[in-house]
Amino acid sequence: MRTSVFAVSLIVCAIASGCESKPADLREWRASDHSNAGSNSEDPGGAAAPTDPLTNARALWSSQCAACHGREGRGDGPQSAIRPPDMSTAEFQSSGSDAQFAASITNGKNGRMPAFASLRPEAVQLLVRLVRGFAAR
Ligand code: HEC
Repeated sequence: MRTSVFAVSLIVCAIASGCESKPADLREWRASDHSNAGSNSEDPGGAAAPTDPLTNARALWSSQCAACHGREGRGDGPQSAIRPPDMSTAEFQSSGSDAQFAASITNGKNGRMPAFASLRPEAVQLLVRLVRGFAAR
């Protein structure tokens, strides 16, 4: 997984003296850099956004979930007449385990929350993480 490659490179970096003071994206130029403009898929220290696994979950959220749940999970999407929960509340966050939320995403709930049975389990886990991130701080 790319995240762990990134984590390992951070650890290696922390061991090498002085290394940690460099910005994460500063590294030796490689010949291959010249030809892969626009793609940093092999760059473990590249821009933060594409390496964040939640980026895909956010895209999924916007296209599949936000219509009901709202952009930030507050239950205020255009289809909020179905009355989805406000995910920012402590009440909601404590109402179910990660496993229960994952099951609800996969199987639906109470005939109101639709089933997303075709999502891969990893995608569902990321969506649960995203939902946890909607908690008010
Ligand atoms: C058609 C509207 C709708 C869409 C689209 C929708 N939801 Fe929901 N969702 C609901 C409603 C309504 C509930 C509350 C269900 C209940 O508790 O009766 C809910 C509940 C939930 C819960 C809490 C489940 C639990 O066990 O309490 C989670 C987590 C959730 N949705 C995530 C998602 C995710 C992730 C997506 C997109 C992949 C999504 N929802 C798409 C309407 C929707």
